[in-house]
Amino acid sequence: MDVFRLTGPSQLRGVVDIRGAKNSVLKLMAASLLAVGRTTISNVPAILDVRIMVELLVRLGCSVDYDAEAGVVSIDVPELVGIQADYELVRAMRASISVLGPLTARMRSAHVALPGGDAIGSRGLDMHQAGLEALGATVHLDHGYFVAEAPEGLQGTEISLQFPSVGATENLVMAATLAHGVTTISNAAKEPEIVDICSMLVEMGARIDGIGTPDITVTGVSELRPVDHRTVGDRIVAGTYAFGAALSGGDVTVRGVGLDLMPNIAIKLRDAGATVDPLDGIELGDGTLGAGFRVRGADRPKAIRVATMPFPGFPTDLQPFVIALNSVAEGTGLLSENLFEARWRFVQEIARLGAKVRIDGNHALISGVEGLSGAEVEASDIRAGAGLVMAGLRAVGITEVSGIDHIERGYENFVTNLRSLGADIERVEKRDILTFE
Ligand code: UD1
Repeated sequence: MDVFRLTGPSQLRGVVDIRGAKNSVLKLMAASLLAVGRTTISNVPAILDVRIMVELLVRLGCSVDYDAEAGVVSIDVPELVGIQADYELVRAMRASISVLGPLTARMRSAHVALPGGDAIGSRGLDMHQAGLEALGATVHLDHGYFVAEAPEGLQGTEISLQFPSVGATENLVMAATLAHGVTTISNAAKEPEIVDICSMLVEMGARIDGIGTPDITVTGVSELRPVDHRTVGDRIVAGTYAFGAALSGGDVTVRGVGLDLMPNIAIKLRDAGATVDPLDGIELGDGTLGAGFRVRGADRPKAIRVATMPFPGFPTDLQPFVIALNSVAEGTGLLSENLFEARWRFVQEIARLGAKVRIDGNHALISGVEGLSGAEVEASDIRAGAGLVMAGLRAVGITEVSGIDHIERGYENFVTNLRSLGADIERVEKRDILTFE
């Protein structure tokens, strides 16, 4: 069992390059199933979830070349693809359910294992199901599998989502691209990752209007063509390093994600006393030109009040970093979680570092302390794990974070990046006392 061992306190200073968004690239890979031939996706981060999606596509019959270092996935999709996403893979990565829409649309049948809950509250699939049924598919549960059938193909329709679900919007847009006629989706999600997926679908020949608005209209076409597409930068990873700079009193230049993708994040960082400056037209790590920004943290951050909301609101995925920042801030901060059933396992862990957090329903009230003290803590999900590492920057002594496989699902080169930013962190092997020889 490996852990991240961090010796604090330390500040983050320097430059970090961010590649494509996990939450976009996995869906772009699923969308490739909609067209026969070779689709190539670039700016792909080297993370475990990409490997899981590669495995899923291979099991569906695609031939996939993945160059993790170059950040390129090339997917050759045959005329006939398989229709089953196995439990083993869906359980390992919930985003596997994004093959549901493409398979139902193109193969007219999909058997996708129901994901178990992961550690972040219950996450239903009812909007995915209702949307596919509105598009004319029959959907039922069979031995733990979600089975969608549309023998005559899907039929355009009007769909109104009760909530702007990211996953449901993506699955339904992908399904509608090959439906007969026009589909309108109201109350659609507007996240930059949705815009990225819709942009790739348009390059593939799909007809989509209202991209990035709550009202998306898709006019079905009979087939799509494979394309080359560059993944949008990961605003959550960018936000992670930005919060790391703000809470540690550091100075970090983030390259690969512009502030236009993170409007509310920049506002909250400034509320915390950080200086945040956009950087446009800068050279990125791979030599291309793009956007970035620089964050300079105050010596001690000021407490902030944040409510998580669908885009352009403050993203739920950054909530652990808000709690971490407030834990060491001047004053009392508040975090209200509005998207998921609250992810408070993180709070129990950061309390081990000395954070003072009181929970009331979906609200966390955080009283800032001068400094935290290093301790052993456990990551319960990707962002909680990264949040504990960032909190450890402000903790005196050694913080050891276990459960790092969660972190590596979403962050490439995490230790290397943090070391190059000046953190004293290493990955070390630790014997699990429950493993007897
Ligand atoms: C995606 C992101 C995740 C992010 C979330 C919200 C990926 C792989 N994951 O998750 O990191 O935190 O968006 O920005 O892209 N819901 C239902 N029924 C449904 C669908 C959703 O009740 O059919 C509920 C969920 O339980 C949750 C809320 O809607 O409470 C938001 O879920 P959704 O936007 O769908 O998130 P994901 O796509 O799962």
